[in-house]
Amino acid sequence: MKYFNSDHISSLPSRQRANLLNTISGFKSANLIATCGENRLSNVAIFNSVVHLGSNPPLLGFILRPLTVERHTYNNIKSTSTYTINAVSEKIYQAAHATAAKYSENESEFAKTGLTEKYRDGFEAPFVMESPIQIGCRYINEYQIEENGCLLMVGAIEHIHIEESILLNDQWGKLDEANIVSIVGLDGYAKPLIIDRLSYAKPNETPKSILHGTQESESSH
Ligand SMILES: Cc1cc2nc3c(=O)[nH]c(=O)nc-3n(C[C@H](O)[C@H](O)[C@H](O)COP(=O)(O)O)c2cc1C
Repeated sequence: MKYFNSDHISSLPSRQRANLLNTISGFKSANLIATCGENRLSNVAIFNSVVHLGSNPPLLGFILRPLTVERHTYNNIKSTSTYTINAVSEKIYQAAHATAAKYSENESEFAKTGLTEKYRDGFEAPFVMESPIQIGCRYINEYQIEENGCLLMVGAIEHIHIEESILLNDQWGKLDEANIVSIVGLDGYAKPLIIDRLSYAKPNETPKSILHGTQESESSH
């Protein structure tokens, strides 16, 4: 195996260091965060840092880069308190990637990339129509990571639209059936395949496959 210590890591050229550090923590979720500004213009950008923060209450977080440059997603969230998180599928990964380009505040990435915005549920932020999972979130809080100025943005889930065909009986979303992709680093797109679901891990028991069943009951996991 190739070995890097702290000195090797810090002496790598910056692009190579970013590639190494962005890839070693694994496959990431691929989502489009869509917002609407005070000027009523919509905005959409790709994020690979959306993370589940808890189901009760239902919370999602994502990491926003430092506010050293203008960040339209952040500004819009602060002015409307709403945003949508939309899963990226194989059909739209190229358009999704293109949303990372720096457009001015007066240009909508929807128009630039061909993605379709839809306002519904009386929600202020637009949903991405091509996405198989569309989630409406309300801003709750933000926490600064003191070491580098990034922000952990926390939102409460208020609306979920999900392709019915990928939901199993126990509401488990079989994401591969909707061809939802994941991200490697900042430029790699992968298509994961569910290989199994396993029963709750219990001491001294070998977990069983439950891909064609459901978890036995509500559990303390
Ligand atoms: C694959 C990929 C993943 C990204 N993930 C994030 C992220 O998690 N957080 C972030 O702040 N920016 C992320 N970006 C950068 C934003 O997409 C980019 O800064 C975008 O222009 C932000 O748009 P905005 O100014 O309209 O908010 C990512 C870019 C790419 C290509």
